[in-house]
This record gives sequence, C-alpha cells and structure tokens, in this order.
Amino acid sequence: MKSSDIMFLGYALALYLKLTEKLRITRKYRVNDIDIIVLPGVFDPVISKSTIALMRNLDVKGSRVLEIGCGTGLLSIFLEKLGNYVVATEIDKRAARCALINIQRNRAHVDVILTDFARGLKGPFDVIVCNPPYFKGPENLSRAIFSRMSPYLRIMKEARRLRAKKIYTTVSTRSQYFKDIMAFSPRVLDKVKLPMEKIYVLESELKGH
Ligand SMILES: C[S@@+](CC[C@H](N)C(=O)[O-])C[C@H]1O[C@@H](n2cnc3c(N)ncnc32)[C@H](O)[C@@H]1O
Repeated sequence: MKSSDIMFLGYALALYLKLTEKLRITRKYRVNDIDIIVLPGVFDPVISKSTIALMRNLDVKGSRVLEIGCGTGLLSIFLEKLGNYVVATEIDKRAARCALINIQRNRAHVDVILTDFARGLKGPFDVIVCNPPYFKGPENLSRAIFSRMSPYLRIMKEARRLRAKKIYTTVSTRSQYFKDIMAFSPRVLDKVKLPMEKIYVLESELKGH
C-alpha cells in the first residue's frame, strides 16, 4: 500500500469517527458472540484494533480480574463469560453507562465502578487487564487522561498494591510510554501490524507476593 493510500484511509476513518460522533450515532457490533453498542464519545473497540488484539490473547479462567478503563465493557464481558469474577473501573461517565448497558444486554455479571484508575478498590485481584490510552494529547481517542504519570507505571504500582500476579496490557510502538512498559520485560504475546505502527499485546508477571 502506498503512503498516500494510508493517509487517505486515515483521514477517511477520522472523518467517519467525527461524523458519527457529531450525529450522535450509536455504533453496534457483534464480537465473539457478544453484542455491544458504542455510545457517542466512547472508545470504539473494533475500529481501534487494540481491544480485539488483547481479547484474542486473554486466556484467563477462574480468576479475580480487574479491568482498568473498561470503555464499552467488551473485554470485561468476555472475561466474565470465560468464567472469571470481574470488576471493571471507568473514569468517564458515558463509558461507564455504555458498559452497564452492554453488560445487561449480554446478561453478564460485572461490577462497574466509576473511579479514577483503581481508587477505592482493595483487592486482592489475580489479574489486571488494561488497554490504556497510550498516546498523549490529541491522539488520545478515549479523551479521558490517565494522569500525568505514565499509565504503565501506574498499572504496575496498582498491580503491586492489589497483589495481582499477572497484567495484560497493550502498547503501540509509537507510544511515548513504550519504553516504560518494555522496561518491565513483559512477554510479547502478539504483534498487530498497522500502517504506521505495531500494537503489542503484553503479559507481565509480578513475583514476590
Ligand atoms: C483505550 S480505551 C480502552 C477501553 C476498553 N478497555 C477497550 O479495550 O475497548 C481506555 C479507557 O480508559 C478510560 N480511562 C482513562 N483514564 C482513566 C482513569 N484514570 N481511570 C479509569 N479509566 C480511565 C477511558 O475513559 C477509556 O474508556
């Protein structure tokens, strides 16, 4: 594919997202037998690619799972259907509402907590799942910002506090935080090649608790 074609596709996608947002169109998808709606303003888990890549690599069963920043709730619903006890957090009210609608539509049992990151949660959790906004500034599609601190350093800090043993996350090779997560020597479970970047799906193990 020529770089002009890639740019054209990028612009077309951005325009589509802007238009559906402006017209307040709710998108609908069916993924792995899960029906989800994406309310305007909520991170789109299908267009973005990172959510589905992460989902493909979540081989977690019978665990206490915390998803940080659940967006539409797709990953949390998927994890619940795999037989996990799932708690999801979200900072954005629209996203939390969207997740609750999707949880109900799919008859899943997931507690959604409107909070910053994992504030107020005591745990323990076995596994933390987080597909964070890995770009600073205008490229941050999800709008809500994790904080000035690198999302990965924050994930690691909270994972220790909540005594999690495993963390599943994603990062783009173009992320300003790429080095932060790679410094923990995570296992690369998957790489998704996009025109300008690669998305890595990562598994980190925490030992010593
Ligand atoms: C990249 S989206 C991923 C959404 C969903 N997990 C998925 O994979 O489709 C990141 C999500 O994190 C949420 N978020 C951002 N900052 C947060 C924070 N400090 N605490 C909790 N959630 C946050 C955003 O509102 C957004 O829904």
